[in-house]
Amino acid sequence: MKILVTGGAGFIGSCFIRHELKKHPDYKIINLDALTYCGNIENLKDIENNPHYKFIHGNICDKSLVREIIKEVDCVINFAAESHVDNSIKTPEIFVETNVSGTLNLLQASKELGIERFLQVSTDEVYGTLGKDGYFYETTPLAPNSPYSASKASADLLVRAYHETFKLPVLNTRCSNNYGPYQYPEKLIPYFISKLLKNEKVPVYGDGLNVRDWLYVYDHCEAIDTVLHKGKIGEVYNIGGHNEKTNMEITHLILEAMGKDETSIEYVKDRPGHDRRYAISNDKITSELGWQPSITFEEGIKLTIDWYLNNQEWIHSIENKKLNYAKEK
Ligand code: NAD
Ligand code: DAU
Repeated sequence: MKILVTGGAGFIGSCFIRHELKKHPDYKIINLDALTYCGNIENLKDIENNPHYKFIHGNICDKSLVREIIKEVDCVINFAAESHVDNSIKTPEIFVETNVSGTLNLLQASKELGIERFLQVSTDEVYGTLGKDGYFYETTPLAPNSPYSASKASADLLVRAYHETFKLPVLNTRCSNNYGPYQYPEKLIPYFISKLLKNEKVPVYGDGLNVRDWLYVYDHCEAIDTVLHKGKIGEVYNIGGHNEKTNMEITHLILEAMGKDETSIEYVKDRPGHDRRYAISNDKITSELGWQPSITFEEGIKLTIDWYLNNQEWIHSIENKKLNYAKEK
């Protein structure tokens, strides 16, 4: 199989390419990535010379480039996105450009050129927020609350429309919060680790009692592989591991692992429109496709914190890039 992975030099996309080449060494993967501020080619250093892997530096909104690449592949898996909620509150335009128009461009080329599978990687945030009880199901109405989640929900609706109208063979996954190696240090876990490494305080938004449902990144990758191979065309699959934690619980875990205490916490102004609770039902993917998370949260979070502590150079090089970028501006 020959697969186009978009956004493969980001957090989940890079882990997916590594996972896929290990699991299916005969597959060929093209990675199309614009290397925006969070795309990092170093994330795939270990496989850069694999003859089954090819990197193309480019934008999913580029019509002719996307057509040229899609001519060569059997499947498209779209990870490329602006992915940070806080950025979407400050600069929503780029979220619509990449997440909506970029997805539309991929869908249109896939339709015109004929593709075996188009898998859209989406998020549980399209469902909005939950109260104390209940779960997000695939049938839960879409009710996004941030410009980021609104752009992802819009893309999901286009994916659905291309199936209904043009019979494009689509699949759509919606996963909960991922954690693991190579996550850009703007997201909760790597950001807090990077702050504590500099002996700075960690900024907890609001009361810190918002709940996220955490899944180890390689379990997400295996779920995507499962949906790609066994998923029913036109269907949506939720992905999650039933690991609901408040932000305070995550913060305390990190503080403890790094030998810090409560004095390293700073409570700051809440994120506008901050979703209170996410919790995903994975009944459909577990019962219909037989996927299960492979590791517990306790194992995964230990692996993750250890990875960042053992790869501080990776964090430093990103921080240096951020400084240079700010100077250039
Ligand atoms: P990320 O921000 O780490 O990576 C995004 C990648 O997309 C980067 O390499 C970036 O350079 C690339 N990119 C951005 N705009 C592009 C464009 N116009 N053309 C080509 N490449 C472009 O994101 P992530 O956390 O790895 O998320 C990947 C996907 O998974 C996203 O679609 C996101 O919505 C979804 N998702 C993320 C999570 C999570 O917890 N991180 C959970 C569920 C779903
Ligand atoms: O649910 C899946 C989503 O998870 C993905 O679709 C998104 O791409 C991904 O970024 C993530 O979104 P969140 O907003 O949940 O992740 P983030 O790491 O930004 O924040 C997690 C929680 O931690 C959230 O409740 C806000 C809080 N937070 C975050 C940061 C960065 C803080 O309290 N302080 C912080 O500095």
